[in-house]
Amino acid sequence: MNYYVLSLFPEMIEAGMKTSITGRAIEQGIINLYSINIRDYSKRKHNQVDDYPYGGGAGMVMQAEPICLACEDIRNRIGRSPRIVYMTPQGRVFNQNIAKELAKEEELVLLCGHYEGIDERVIEKEVTDCISIGDYVLTGGELPAMVVMDAVSRMVPGVLTNEDSGADESFEGDLLEYPQYTRPQEYEGMSVPEILLSGHHANIEKWRREQSLLRTAKWRPDLLEKAELSKKDIEFLKKTLAE
Ligand code: ADE
Repeated sequence: MNYYVLSLFPEMIEAGMKTSITGRAIEQGIINLYSINIRDYSKRKHNQVDDYPYGGGAGMVMQAEPICLACEDIRNRIGRSPRIVYMTPQGRVFNQNIAKELAKEEELVLLCGHYEGIDERVIEKEVTDCISIGDYVLTGGELPAMVVMDAVSRMVPGVLTNEDSGADESFEGDLLEYPQYTRPQEYEGMSVPEILLSGHHANIEKWRREQSLLRTAKWRPDLLEKAELSKKDIEFLKKTLAE
């Protein structure tokens, strides 16, 4: 996976991505990160990239030219037209399915806005996807771009090792993950559930499935409507929730 991030704060992207699991994947060359400063494509004095909005109003708008030149440069470098994802609170709300879909791409361009947004003509001319990371407004698209790259990178083969594990995790099958415990067996009077110490794999699997179901019913009932539930799951939930 090759990420091209267009930003006014490329050092923020580098610092965030070169840490932990994504950092290891970059070192191993499983993912490549090219953080590009939009200012480098400005033709104005002091490399300015923003201007007042037509029609008036508060704040500044990022101009089309430097962003479009940067996109053109990426196309020339890689010899094809990649998906260009604009991070905006107006976009499709990001989720695990979108992460899986984006992970299939050979390269992704992530465009981070600032100020009051970007000139609409960039969206018309360049942008293939608008993605939001939730219904709140941040100061810029850098954190959202890092959120997307982190979630996408986990889906790229080779990024997660066995120790990092991705199989049983939350949102698989639209259920939340079961609770986890590690040593000590007793902490501040709270014990690890007996069944996890039993070594009986089938019973542990059953308990974990039930815990996933209960946890999802309690914390994210909206997910249960989409989840693939067996007859047994439904019976268990009915019985337990009625108690
Ligand atoms: N830029 C500012 N806020 C954002 C959000 N919630 N999602 C994506 N990009 C953003």
